[in-house]
Amino acid sequence: MTKAEDDSTMALSYEEFKKEASQLCGTDLFLYKSQQMDRRIHSLMSYWEVKDYDEYLNVLKTNPRRFQEFVKRLTINVSEFFRNPDRFMELWERILPEILRSSGTIRIWSAGCSNGAEPYSVAIILKELNALHRATVLATDIDQVVLDKAQQGAYYFNEVKSLPAELREKYFRQAGEVFYFDENLKKRIQFTKHNMLLEPFPENLDLIICRNVVIYFTEEAKEKIYLGFNQALRDGGYFMTGGTEPILYYRQYGFENVAPSFYKKVGPPKPELEAGPWSLL
Ligand SMILES: C[S@@+](CC[C@H](N)C(=O)[O-])C[C@H]1O[C@@H](n2cnc3c(N)ncnc32)[C@H](O)[C@@H]1O
Repeated sequence: MTKAEDDSTMALSYEEFKKEASQLCGTDLFLYKSQQMDRRIHSLMSYWEVKDYDEYLNVLKTNPRRFQEFVKRLTINVSEFFRNPDRFMELWERILPEILRSSGTIRIWSAGCSNGAEPYSVAIILKELNALHRATVLATDIDQVVLDKAQQGAYYFNEVKSLPAELREKYFRQAGEVFYFDENLKKRIQFTKHNMLLEPFPENLDLIICRNVVIYFTEEAKEKIYLGFNQALRDGGYFMTGGTEPILYYRQYGFENVAPSFYKKVGPPKPELEAGPWSLL
């Protein structure tokens, strides 16, 4: 047997599987933290009783439901309205009023918006501040399934229970067990599929909300994302992180830490850091 024939019969290694799966998903799985990624991939394989990586790759290529499940499991789309309420109150009482004072019209990006709870929470605050008409809210996610759910804006009680009752009553219409988000507010949000690890970022933003997304990325990927955020924000714009993901070296990315979870752009990143969204695929 020649070496080529020998190689063609060799089983896929885990690294090769991840490379092929990256192409399939359109995102670089090597940019996600490997321990969590490995655990999820292997638990899915054992759940479906798939014997090796070749077989699993074949399943992903030929079975759209299994493929969707794979993407969903790897990207984890848990979300909730007003997640970490104290941070949303800070957004409501201090950060958004400050942004609204300095700009006529404002641009907000909810990056990794999952089922819509995050951008809808922002829409509620803007409406309460009487400023929704001045705002463009972009909401993006890599996962089309959660984006469809977000666009539908229909939730079970379990999913809206984190909202104060008066806001829930004001901004949702209940029909049976389902709570439908207010159509007029919903219209103000543009939902789009977008891969933060691969595609260019929106520009001239006043506020980026990116919470509980980069925690799954490697340190290298995070760095590129933070640099990209700096470029995407206008001077003085804000970046809101998740409750458990403080940025240690925010100064090198051109940010000031103005409150827990809130970073303000105060200048360009350190020149030695290479900026910009990029692709490793
Ligand atoms: C844990 S959820 C966070 C949802 C929301 N930001 C929050 O904090 O409640 C993470 C979301 O990030 C999305 N995501 C993961 N990788 C992504 C990528 N490369 N580009 C865009 N979104 C991504 C997932 O699909 C998922 O919906």
